[in-house]
Amino acid sequence: MTANRPLGTTHDGKRLYRRVYDDVARRIGSGEWKPHDRLPSVRLLAAQFGMNRLTVMRAYRMLEEEGKIYAREKSGYYVSPASGGAAPAFSDSDFPASPPFLRDSLTEIQRLPVDYQFSQAMIDPNLLPNLFLSEYVKKVFDIYPKLMGTYSDVQGDGELRQALARYLADNAKIPLEASDLVITTGAQQAIDLLARLYVRPMDAILVERPTYSAALDIFRQQGARFLSVDIAPDGYDLNRVEELMALHKPRIFYLNPTFHNPTGHTVPAPQRKKLVELAERYRCLLIEDDSFHEMYFDAPPPPPFLAYDTGGWVVHLRSFSKYVSPGLRICAVAGAPQVMKPFLTAKSLADNGAPLVNQKIFLHYFESERVRRHLDKLRIALQVRKEIMEEELAAAPWTWVSPQGGLNLWLKLPSGLSAEALLEASLERSVSFVPGLICDPQRERGSWIRVSYSFVGEEKLREGARRLAELANRLLE
Ligand SMILES: Cc1ncc(COP(=O)(O)O)c(C=O)c1O
Repeated sequence: MTANRPLGTTHDGKRLYRRVYDDVARRIGSGEWKPHDRLPSVRLLAAQFGMNRLTVMRAYRMLEEEGKIYAREKSGYYVSPASGGAAPAFSDSDFPASPPFLRDSLTEIQRLPVDYQFSQAMIDPNLLPNLFLSEYVKKVFDIYPKLMGTYSDVQGDGELRQALARYLADNAKIPLEASDLVITTGAQQAIDLLARLYVRPMDAILVERPTYSAALDIFRQQGARFLSVDIAPDGYDLNRVEELMALHKPRIFYLNPTFHNPTGHTVPAPQRKKLVELAERYRCLLIEDDSFHEMYFDAPPPPPFLAYDTGGWVVHLRSFSKYVSPGLRICAVAGAPQVMKPFLTAKSLADNGAPLVNQKIFLHYFESERVRRHLDKLRIALQVRKEIMEEELAAAPWTWVSPQGGLNLWLKLPSGLSAEALLEASLERSVSFVPGLICDPQRERGSWIRVSYSFVGEEKLREGARRLAELANRLLE
């Protein structure tokens, strides 16, 4: 994909509405959807394809004009009796179709080649301990000469699980044994495995609004419907959470409650305890994605949800991509046996265990004195970058809540400035960010953007943020 791709097209250059058109026409053509079957609502399809409702409407209108579907007033669209068996007019090829909801919106944006990369919520590689890690590469091959010739235990290397169980017990007040943990290939894999285990097509699941967009894409791929709860600087409206749990009985609630991506908010301790009680009462598994736990500036965050869990209703994901190495792909997953047993089977079916070399390199670095020193320096560097970005962005009339940790600012755009127009203009000036729409499970709130201050160096950060503020002011003139 290039920065020149016209808006409203997919990475393969297809117009967005054609994806919907093709998918619906294929299902009708193959007989999967029969004459007079009711089609999914425009709202549902828009949410599942991750696109605007107008785009879906455009595809439906085109299908209607061609007689493939018909509309009933106030009721929706239906398969037309005349449409039976016709091959879709726009079928690109006879190659087996990929699942209709397969999409990775975030990667599409992050791949755009720009100089001022504010769409990556990851740490600048210059701030990570690359040199030390490479020392440990040599060391682990001396200690374990047969390392390359061995599979890891599917659950994860035993020594590493022991070290991480000790770390979580000290750092997060969670009494854990090595046997309670599974090591996954990043938090991303853990979310995917949990989605495969607990989400069936059309299941209603609870998510925060906004939330980590890649998690939404993973759940969409399983056919999930989203029930959403706003996350604010002081956490969630627990009455609303309880109402949704009681009414819809969601099997899971995916949350990122500590230095939340994208908002930076942290759910306060008393809410954590109450939410775990609600989860237990309504039989809803809390998937606690705690990828930013260590990324605080002044004070450490409250203990994780897992620390309050006595009934086995929390599964905790602790990724180390953000401050040790995204390249090693190490994440510890912890939960009660009734969750971890099927989880381990899913992990084993997916890849038979995380790569052993990565786990050993990580272990030896993580057990060293250097980690603490590295973390202390990293926290200061991130705080400085955040302050630089805030200083420059203050020149335009957007608003945000200054985060106490994490990697992002979540900006509310002033009225009269659209995220789409800003993105188009900023890409021309080589600045990228994440439009908030892709973080919204309902794909409705278009007036927010996420800018990450963690990935580019201080000078570039200042210049890129200055450009962004200038562009916003210009578009508002
Ligand atoms: C909230 C959240 N969860 C999970 C991930 C993925 O992490 P990992 O690199 O461990 O797969 C990210 C990465 O940005 C994230 O922001």
